Amino acid sequence: MSTESKPLIFVTGAAGYLGFEVVYQLLEAGYSVRGAARGRKIPLLKTALEKYPKFEVVEIADVATADFSAAFEGVGAIIHTAAPLPGRTDPETALKSAIEGSLHILREARQAGIKKVVVTGSIVTFPEDSFGQNDWVPVTKEQALEGHLTYIAEKKFGEQAVLDFAEKHPEMDITIFCPPWIFGPFAPGFEHIVPTPDFAAFSTNIFVYHLLRADNTSYHYTPGVLDVRDVARAHISGLHPLTPNHPKRVPIVSPYDADFRDAIRYISEAHPELRERLADPSTVPMWPRYKLPVDLKPVEEAYGIEHGSYKTWKETILDAVDRFLDLEKLWKSKGLEFEVPRTWA
Ligand SMILES: NC(=O)c1ccc[n+]([C@@H]2O[C@H](COP(=O)([O-])OP(=O)(O)OC[C@H]3O[C@@H](n4cnc5c(N)ncnc54)[C@H](OP(=O)(O)O)[C@@H]3O)[C@@H](O)[C@H]2O)c1
Repeated sequence: MSTESKPLIFVTGAAGYLGFEVVYQLLEAGYSVRGAARGRKIPLLKTALEKYPKFEVVEIADVATADFSAAFEGVGAIIHTAAPLPGRTDPETALKSAIEGSLHILREARQAGIKKVVVTGSIVTFPEDSFGQNDWVPVTKEQALEGHLTYIAEKKFGEQAVLDFAEKHPEMDITIFCPPWIFGPFAPGFEHIVPTPDFAAFSTNIFVYHLLRADNTSYHYTPGVLDVRDVARAHISGLHPLTPNHPKRVPIVSPYDADFRDAIRYISEAHPELRERLADPSTVPMWPRYKLPVDLKPVEEAYGIEHGSYKTWKETILDAVDRFLDLEKLWKSKGLEFEVPRTWA
């Protein structure tokens, strides 16, 4: 496909950890991209990607209620990553942003004649021991509104609403990619999104940053990871599936063991100068397994993501750490004071 024939892609959550990586990969691949952001992130995102003439930012204050008619003009496909992470908002808003946000985008896309939509789901919607396309955690909206498992519920009901819409509108090509915990380096330019220490912008990658704190006891809660670069390229592969009858909800995980004890060892070996500030491996939670038993064949067959092409755990960790060190250097050069936070949110 020539560069000229590539469609304009609309990306929600473009200033977010995953959304920014998606935008970066699209631009590097020659796509034109319209990224949605809000508030103070709008000028930061513009600066971060100013070297790309094919990038523009639009303000979308709330995906659940925004008027997309102008924003969707000329758009060929949508990658919808925006959703509130745990603890970022109250339960009612979280459910509304995830469910109504996705449905509203799909309805407006249909209205605008946009046929292709890729949505970010989450593998936390699967029960402990079952990770298939049709598995769901038995959490209810009522429990979520009471503050229990709100994020898991927001993703579950958001994905179910998308699947229901896809069923009713077979003329549209809709795919949900479901990664587990996302870690790995911030894409080039992300330093402009965090000109000062704003650890909420680190999203779940904060758990890797926590390893650079000697008294750290903050770890993610369940096994299963995927490098942010692999999550983003999966979303982009969803724009051009290899098979017409591809799955609509696609679990995707790293095929490698991802143990934070190994992560600490990799950092210690590659960066002897950091040894004094590294977390104690004995504080890392022990689990019966360090990767999820997800069948990656559908991802390979339908989207061309080959088994041997995933980033290794060592690449995820060391590349992430390099970016944290870049950011620390930048903040120090501005005279800013900061320390690795104790907790994730
Ligand atoms: N990180 C993980 O481990 C993980 C794992 C599985 C799935 N996911 C999914 O991946 C997606 C991206 O997550 P992330 O880690 O990149 O988180 P993130 O950095 O917090 O990015 C989420 C983005 O969505 C935006 N957003 C949230 N609610 C919105 C709303 N109602 N209207 C408009 N924009 C809104 C946020 O804007 P502001 O910055 O202005 O708040 C932010 O830019 C989410 O759907 C998440 O559920 C993440």
